[in-house]
Amino acid sequence: MHENLTVVDHPLVQHKLTLMRDKKTSTASFRRLLREISLLLCYEVTRGLELEDVTIETPMQKMQAPKLKGKKLCFASILRAGNGLLEGMLDLVPSARVAHVGLYRDHDTLEAVEYYYKAPGGLGNRVVIAVDPMLATANSASLAIDKLKRSGATDIRFLCLLAAPEGVKALTEAHPDVPIITAALDEKLNEKGYIIPGLGDAGDRMYGTK
Ligand code: PRP
Ligand code: URA
Repeated sequence: MHENLTVVDHPLVQHKLTLMRDKKTSTASFRRLLREISLLLCYEVTRGLELEDVTIETPMQKMQAPKLKGKKLCFASILRAGNGLLEGMLDLVPSARVAHVGLYRDHDTLEAVEYYYKAPGGLGNRVVIAVDPMLATANSASLAIDKLKRSGATDIRFLCLLAAPEGVKALTEAHPDVPIITAALDEKLNEKGYIIPGLGDAGDRMYGTK
């Protein structure tokens, strides 16, 4: 249906996502689950990264063995909730560079409002993985990706936990070159721009700020 979209249907991802959706799940468990699920999603979003053979010496002999090619990856966290995915991904790729894109949704207009932006140099030579648990209207993701492109990024992927069909359509129209990887494609947005059935407000559930 959406050719830019990959839904990660691994049983462990789906199981943890169900626990996260449950409104009875505590803030502490929600954060732990998000970190765990980010390890599994990171595995999926980095599938297909280019490798190159290097020469190493095992205790037995010299060999040619594969390593990631090119400059270090860049993870771009869309604040606040993106940090929940970021932390687990950095566990798997500790050498990755990190961009922070501070955005919040205006509750009335649902437009993304920027409050912070800092990205590493050399984005044009890096694979950039933008992370945010929620893709609702896609206003936040589109603006974040605009900014990363203005900083020189050309190879960008977007990783989230839940996507609404409306958000997938909008992000694909705004940035057709950006693949979207998600753990689930939900049913719709409600009149307030929340994902249905969703999991509520990701930032609030992560940090207990409701
Ligand atoms: C949430 C979420 C996304 C955005 C998604 O952030 O983490 O960034 O909403 O909605 P959209 O696709 O309609 O733009 P929020 O604005 O609540 O900020 P927070 O992460 O600081 O809580
Ligand atoms: N942001 C969230 O945190 N949750 C939604 O359902 C939509 C946007």
